[in-house]
Amino acid sequence: MPKQQDVYILAIETSCDETAAAVVKDGTEVLSNIISSQIDLHKKYGGVVPEIASRKHMEKINPVIQEAMEKAGLTFKEIDAIAVTYGPGLVGALLVGLSAAKGLAFALKKPLIGIHHIEGHISANYINNPNLQPPFICLVVSGGHSHLVHVKDYGEYEILGKTRDDAAGEAFDKVARSLGLSYPGGPEIDRLAKEGDSQAIIFPRSYLEEGSYDFSFSGIKSAVLNHINQCKMKDEKIHIQDVAASFQDAVTDVLVEKTIQAAKQKQLTTIVMAGGVAANQGLRQKMQHRCQIEGFSLEYPPLILCTDNAAMIGAAAYHEYKKGVHHGWDLNAVPNLKLGEKIDVSF
Ligand code: KG4
Ligand code: ZN
Repeated sequence: MPKQQDVYILAIETSCDETAAAVVKDGTEVLSNIISSQIDLHKKYGGVVPEIASRKHMEKINPVIQEAMEKAGLTFKEIDAIAVTYGPGLVGALLVGLSAAKGLAFALKKPLIGIHHIEGHISANYINNPNLQPPFICLVVSGGHSHLVHVKDYGEYEILGKTRDDAAGEAFDKVARSLGLSYPGGPEIDRLAKEGDSQAIIFPRSYLEEGSYDFSFSGIKSAVLNHINQCKMKDEKIHIQDVAASFQDAVTDVLVEKTIQAAKQKQLTTIVMAGGVAANQGLRQKMQHRCQIEGFSLEYPPLILCTDNAAMIGAAAYHEYKKGVHHGWDLNAVPNLKLGEKIDVSF
């Protein structure tokens, strides 16, 4: 049988505050993964400023793409398709990546493949782990999203639950800000939690109604703020490490419990985590521990592929490419794009 041809995808991601481009071979092998982070620019505002993000993407997009190609050691001619995140995200930021991708695809006469950002996060797990195959349960926890997803097949998703208010990462960032920590707060809380006592303060665990796979993080966020205010009023010292550890413990309890229940209900044996909060050491340890007890196998990406990057977009695009999914030049940025509600092929 003749060897199947390798597929090289140039992927672009600009949905939030990272300008990223990557070249991925056959959906699993990362030849280059360039990430230009704007975190330092947004730090002083305590969060991402959309206008600044768009301007910085414009400045960085071409050099980042060029660097990704150079690092991969390929010419544009050798690329089989151009993939790009077209939603959800900040509209101005998305448009920069989308325009660059369209321009390249048009000039090079290569197919354009639009990818859902969360599908990218989920697909980060296929990289370096070719044995992972759907179906599985995926806990997607990032700065903008908290979803519990039943991944039925490549590109086929059933959303079992999502957040009713803040995303998990957003809760980490807001709590961190109230403790005077810098943006993004997730890694800071993670670091401090290791030095604190997770039982020092009992924050509420919001499980919602029986059987619900939705999340809610606004209650715990308020509880942390109340605790801080009470300490200030009583002139008591705030033990930042204990607050971080107790907050992280409460949030991860809920994330782990709901994920395990979802896997049991769907009778699946593999649990996968994705998104920036999947980098959290406390979450990883707790999920690993529960999975061992319950007999589930657990996968999560290396740290660099948990937070935003373009390699994950290339991994997702590979499966679309194989199915023959190409998008037309009318593909637009969709800031509130829902997972599973893909724009139909028009090319
Ligand atoms: O996936 P991501 O890079 O961007 C979105 O798609 O939103 O996630 C960023 C989020 C931020 O809220 C950040 O605080 C959080 O992920 N994060 C963490 C950790 N590393 C990043 N949260 C908890 N623990 C971490 N180690
Ligand atoms: Zn993301």
